[in-house]
Amino acid sequence: MDAGLEKVVAAETVLSDVQGAEGRLIIRGKDVETLAREFTFEQTAGHLWAGFLDTTPELQTALGKARVKAFERMRQDFARLAPLPEVDALRAALSLASDGHDVAAAIELVATMAVATGAIAQMKAGRTPVAPDAKALHGADLLRMIRGEAPSTEEARALDAYLVTISDHGLNASTFVARCVASTRAGLGSAVIAGLSALKGPLHGGAPGPVLDMLDGIGAADRAEGWIRNALDRGERLMGFGHRVYRTRDPRADVLKSVVNSLPASSGRLALAQAIEGRILQKLAAEKPDRKLDTNVEYYTAILLEALGIPRGLFTCLFGCGRVTGWIAHAREQLGTGRLVRPASTYVGPMPADSVAA
Ligand code: COA
Repeated sequence: MDAGLEKVVAAETVLSDVQGAEGRLIIRGKDVETLAREFTFEQTAGHLWAGFLDTTPELQTALGKARVKAFERMRQDFARLAPLPEVDALRAALSLASDGHDVAAAIELVATMAVATGAIAQMKAGRTPVAPDAKALHGADLLRMIRGEAPSTEEARALDAYLVTISDHGLNASTFVARCVASTRAGLGSAVIAGLSALKGPLHGGAPGPVLDMLDGIGAADRAEGWIRNALDRGERLMGFGHRVYRTRDPRADVLKSVVNSLPASSGRLALAQAIEGRILQKLAAEKPDRKLDTNVEYYTAILLEALGIPRGLFTCLFGCGRVTGWIAHAREQLGTGRLVRPASTYVGPMPADSVAA
């Protein structure tokens, strides 16, 4: 029995390889550093969906049109989504999208994620949702819909690099459940909703908001020592640190740290984050010598999304906007195997009285 399934190999995939000992992430034959530097969100989706959908310029046009269509379709539901917590509102919006298996369904889901995330941001700020721009790149349009104003080229590029960096990551919890749902032959929409539900938890995609809460709680580098000690004494986990697979630094943390560095507005917070990170790593090494705990993707995700002016309640939705391409690629790959996922369990409950007597 392996409760966390870490020793179980449950899929063969061409999509991504998480090399935990080396701290390396390969996404369909490319290192994550290369992909983040050279690929747009659309190109990354085309890369992950190769064989399913191949032409990236077409994808840009199709995605732009799909965002406009999603906005029109969702318009009548905005008021009902507004009071829900952010991820719940996004999940509800996705449940109104189609649940097919084809490329059109996939594009509709990616578009719906972005449009709903933008609308949720506006409504949480007490404003009216901003309509998409069909001609813009997906990442730039997402940031514009969230903030209500066009981002600078650097900001648009930074969000795009984030969406690319987190597009896929092996058989993590959300990808695994997306594959399980796909294996039942339910539609792509069902697989994506399942993925988003898993992502919501603070041990998975829900960590970056709490990372900022932690930095706010610490306040200054010279207060870090006492704060960390108290948190560990209470048995708390330090958000943005540790990983099930990496036994060294998560390579995505450095990709995102250099992206934050390219944003002038972030320098004060980045300096504080780096100082606190150093103290946390020292403390974790001293307190948990048997377990190599290092910085994970969520630490610099938090700093980056904050520098882009994105409210922390929206961070998990943003993660979903990037990871949706990976969930869809995995759902398609799983469907291609034709195999229902159905693991075994060991029964440790009571036996009926007659079989005990026998
Ligand atoms: N802070 C403090 N201690 C941590 C820790 C953290 N962030 N992450 C793991 N540990 C400790 C555990 O308490 C445990 O200690 P123990 O052996 O004394 O009980 C030990 O390290 C091993 O933990 P384990 O539960 O086996 O690790 P895991 O593989 O299940 O954990 C995470 C992976 C990501 C769930 C875990 O590191 C975590 O909770 N991190 C914080 C949340 C986070 O950043 N999530 C985003 C992940 S990308």
